[in-house]
Amino acid sequence: MSPEFDIANPGAVELFESLRAFGYDLPTALADIVDNSITARARNIWIDLNWKGADSRIIIRDDGDGMTEMGLVQAMRPGSLGPLAERSANDLGRFGLGMKTASISQCRCLTVMSKATSSTTVVRRWDLDYIASTGTGEWRLLKGIDLLPPTDHEVLADQATGTVLFWDRLDQLVGDASLDDEVAQRHFRERADAVKLHLAMVFHRFLRGRNSIRIHLNGRPIEPWDPFLEDADAVDPMPSETLVFGNEEVVVKPFILPHHSKLSAERHALAAGPKGWNAHQGFYIYRNRRLLVAGDWLGLGMQKEEHYKLARIRVDLGNSSDLIWQIDVKKSRARPPTVLHKDLQRLARAARGRAAKIYRHRGKVLQRQHGDNQVFLWTHLVRHGKTFYKVNRDHPLVRKVLGDTGDKAAVRALLNLVEQAVPTPLIVINNAEAPNAFGGPFEDSPSDLRQAMEAVFFAMVDQGRNRADAARALAGMEPFNHFPEQLAGFLDEVARRESEIQELMKRR
Ligand SMILES: Nc1ncnc2c1ncn2[C@@H]1O[C@H](COP(=O)(O)OP(=O)(O)OP(=O)(O)O)[C@@H](O)[C@H]1O
Ligand SMILES: [Mg+2]
Repeated sequence: MSPEFDIANPGAVELFESLRAFGYDLPTALADIVDNSITARARNIWIDLNWKGADSRIIIRDDGDGMTEMGLVQAMRPGSLGPLAERSANDLGRFGLGMKTASISQCRCLTVMSKATSSTTVVRRWDLDYIASTGTGEWRLLKGIDLLPPTDHEVLADQATGTVLFWDRLDQLVGDASLDDEVAQRHFRERADAVKLHLAMVFHRFLRGRNSIRIHLNGRPIEPWDPFLEDADAVDPMPSETLVFGNEEVVVKPFILPHHSKLSAERHALAAGPKGWNAHQGFYIYRNRRLLVAGDWLGLGMQKEEHYKLARIRVDLGNSSDLIWQIDVKKSRARPPTVLHKDLQRLARAARGRAAKIYRHRGKVLQRQHGDNQVFLWTHLVRHGKTFYKVNRDHPLVRKVLGDTGDKAAVRALLNLVEQAVPTPLIVINNAEAPNAFGGPFEDSPSDLRQAMEAVFFAMVDQGRNRADAARALAGMEPFNHFPEQLAGFLDEVARRESEIQELMKRR
């Protein structure tokens, strides 16, 4: 016995039982396993949930790089690679725990079989009941292919490399349910559906595009769920910003989703996400494109509210920011470092403001639906992922000028030039440096506001609208909708002048 220290190994049974309480559920546990397959460069991941009462199993197989015998033994150790170790930039792991903690949160017996290039198939098993039965507290990692029934031996036979996890004794999911227990079986099926939704969301950026991977659940490929509906026309992406702190960078891009009247009922229901529209607003944090947080205001002093539900903000982190962002083992939490709070609040406020407008101003949307495309002076165009701002040629004043001018080509060239030279980079920089420091429309020139109202109003009247209609259109139009009092004053005066004219006509 050394006089300086005692060896204080944790008891294997006790520690494993405690690790079970990390708080995984079936979908988050499987996501952790999929992480490993993706890191091992798998192209396909097959997840099978096989109902067989108390003998139900979950089998997760991939065609990734696999592990050698030494690699597998190391991988089975809790804490196989510590959180402080340097990892390759595309590694989805951090703690050296996931495979073990996620698996044993769901099952009492984890068997891993793996095959790497030019090495034989190897098998190792953590069996919680076996470890308890030895009464020694030893970390006995069982080995040998005969741990598995012969039908399992060939699972990797057709693959050059790959890994399979067998989850047996699923005490959380099925317990000791009998084969014909319909309630338990229904529960099992429902959990499979939850797994599908969760993986579709967490890995959506891996499931589409070049080099995409496939995740098959009970034989069916999982379709990605994109929270930003990037392929829908009516989505309003705001410019992305890169926030730099120390050596780290995060890229933030808000998306304002369309008003529900712009989506089909089916699309709208699908876009809600597994937990519903309200729950899925806020920041979406991705680490190496893998989703950690699916909509949260991150404790920045903002609540989830119905009228902000169209705001979804994408945040992209690399895996070198893990400690700063307090990523947890389950990869379900991330907390922004304090230095970023202000910037994130600013971006959140801007996105929430815009989302609330779209949510509330059904009027605007309805006007547009009624074919009235004249309301917006600027329209926002996204082409091949790039944003352009265009002057709306159907705006009444633009139409009037184009109609009246003797030199249409020059006016068109001018509009084109204005559009091509929108100083977006400068606006973005100014806004980042001094948020809320932009002058509002007509802030320093009330008389210009009045003139603009008059010009647009009479342009509409000239174009054949009746006055009541033109007044209504003016009230819904940017930026006049922000000046209801001045607008009312202007319209009163128009009405007064009108009645004076009529009075004069009568007297004649
Ligand atoms: N499907 C797989 N294919 C190849 N190697 C794997 C596979 N699953 C796990 N491994 C190896 O096992 C190791 C341990 O995995 P585990 O999930 O426990 O920890 P981690 O991924 O390193 O970190 P984290 O705890 O953050 O998930 C991995 O680092 C990897 O080397
Ligand atoms: Mg892992």
